[in-house]
Amino acid sequence: MKAVYFQDFGGSENIIFHDVDAPADPTGHEVLVNVKAAGVNRADIMQRKGFYPAPKGFPERIPGLEFAGEIAAVGEKVSQFEVGERVFGITAGGAHAEMLLTEESLLAKIPSNLSFVEAAAFPEAFITAHDAVFTQGKLIENETLLIHAVGSGVGLAALQLAKAKGIFVIGTSRTDEKLADAKTLGLDIAISTNNARDFQDQIMKVTKGKGVNVILDLVGANYFSQNIESLALKGRLILVGLVGGRKTEFDLGLALTKRLTIIGTVLRSRTTEEKSSATRSFVREVLPLMASGVLRSNIDRTFPAEDAAGAHDYIESNANFGKVVLEF
Ligand SMILES: NC(=O)c1ccc[n+]([C@@H]2O[C@H](COP(=O)([O-])OP(=O)(O)OC[C@H]3O[C@@H](n4cnc5c(N)ncnc54)[C@H](OP(=O)(O)O)[C@@H]3O)[C@@H](O)[C@H]2O)c1
Repeated sequence: MKAVYFQDFGGSENIIFHDVDAPADPTGHEVLVNVKAAGVNRADIMQRKGFYPAPKGFPERIPGLEFAGEIAAVGEKVSQFEVGERVFGITAGGAHAEMLLTEESLLAKIPSNLSFVEAAAFPEAFITAHDAVFTQGKLIENETLLIHAVGSGVGLAALQLAKAKGIFVIGTSRTDEKLADAKTLGLDIAISTNNARDFQDQIMKVTKGKGVNVILDLVGANYFSQNIESLALKGRLILVGLVGGRKTEFDLGLALTKRLTIIGTVLRSRTTEEKSSATRSFVREVLPLMASGVLRSNIDRTFPAEDAAGAHDYIESNANFGKVVLEF
């Protein structure tokens, strides 16, 4: 089979679409998927650069955390899926290949209204957003949500999920066009952080001095102290991405007096059981909204798998509004 392959760790010039050994036949609860499309994520780029090694048991040179495809073979204990079914899901690596061996508990059936490409844009962004904002952040109706980098894949997923529940959402971006486009998806208040503009005063103004209940932070260090200022009493800060840096200083006193909860989270290195649990929540709470057309796939651009380097470069340029998907 062919796979997106890192000849070396570093720049995108190291990516080739290369012949590699196909996975072994599935046994037990394993499923072999013929991958038709797969989303590209920042983690793939970090892995390529050598900063984010694949977890044990996953290929160090073949990236890919999400996929959509057709079942090619099943292990003898698989009970929920059959050969030929259209499925999608998350994994800890190796999805940017023509064939992927995974576990049935990590799979979901693709709703009939979605193509493989559309389906491939959902799992990583929507499972991450749903798990962060609702499962861990415990956001409920009548509360407010602040999403940083709202035009990102995860940001738009969180926006759509929150709007489907009628939640008031504030979003930031450094790109004004992304804010304008996010407003067409229901964003209530758009705040520009272009040229490192501050956001905390605007948050306080919009929330009439109360602050927001939950922050989905995809940026990290350079927003941290303003995030603490922007949270309401008993607010929850969910740290999901660190594109804006990983080290900072802040006033611990505010975390105490406001009784804040600060949660760091990551999907890739979770155990199969933990990923299965997040997948089941996704199937229960997100999939019906996909099937009914309430949620859309937020695809910015697709690339042929042969041009995975182009997809990496495009994401690294920060130009994408939503997801970038490879077609196999
Ligand atoms: N913890 C997890 O399990 C998990 C899972 C998935 C993703 N993530 C992380 O979540 C983040 C978002 O992922 P994604 O795939 O949705 O990203 P994405 O679609 O590639 O979008 C990221 C956006 O962040 C903004 N950005 C980049 N550098 C920035 C900076 N220094 N300061 C402020 N904004 C900046 C850019 O938009 P602007 O135009 O606004 O600048 C960029 O387009 C990434 O850090 C990713 O690694 C974590």
